[in-house]
Amino acid sequence: MKKFTKVMALAMSAAMLACVPVSAAETITFGTNAEFPPFEFIAAEGVIDTFDGIDMAIAKQIAEENDMEAKIENMEFDSLLVALQNGQIDAVIAGMTVTEERKEAVDFSTPYYTATQVMIVKEDSDIAKAEDMADKRICVIQGYTGETCVNELGYDYEAFKKGTEAIMELVNGKCDVVVIDSATAQQYVSDNEGLKIVEDPEAFASEEYAIAVQKDNTELLDKINTAIEKMLEDGTISELAATYAEADGEAE
Ligand code: ARG
Repeated sequence: MKKFTKVMALAMSAAMLACVPVSAAETITFGTNAEFPPFEFIAAEGVIDTFDGIDMAIAKQIAEENDMEAKIENMEFDSLLVALQNGQIDAVIAGMTVTEERKEAVDFSTPYYTATQVMIVKEDSDIAKAEDMADKRICVIQGYTGETCVNELGYDYEAFKKGTEAIMELVNGKCDVVVIDSATAQQYVSDNEGLKIVEDPEAFASEEYAIAVQKDNTELLDKINTAIEKMLEDGTISELAATYAEADGEAE
């Protein structure tokens, strides 16, 4: 009996040892702001917990490619880079545009998506180009590149915390135009009646989305870049973009 117990104990500790690497799978904690469809939004069943969207699927695959687990921390867009610098999160995936200013604070991965700012207006609006906004009530989202663009054009604006809040202002006639990223604008226009998109490529340059890591975190950046480059090459990212745009079209 005694011998049996000993053998059992040995077998059990061996089994426990064998389990250690599995249960201790390393995690990559991605920070995001899940207010930016089709890139990140809350869903009943998302790809990572309740988080769904193109970026969330990309984050999951980056982790999987590296035998790691992806975790999401949802916070205000404005807080993401500070949280990254503080080490609260390992990376930011949030449809984040690479800008010179942000590059001073963090390092960016290989870009994975090209976007541009557009104007969302009521269907009967006479706004046809960016300069038509001069005497209009403009809404932007706080900290987004759309805010920077309107600032640079020199126009007054009101800034909201969430895209949906700005869209409500527009729908309710309290503002005339919302400046926001193209794919997200598409989503809002198909979700709300009576809105349309106005583009002005001369006023709004194209932007590239990339994942941010702490400066000089080359180990993580390499992992992320290898996975992203693979997903760009094998068409995964364009498929994801199409799937999430389509899902929206069908829901109409
Ligand atoms: N591309 C814009 C920027 O970098 C907006 C990103 C907003 N993303 C979000 N997850 N809320 O400023």
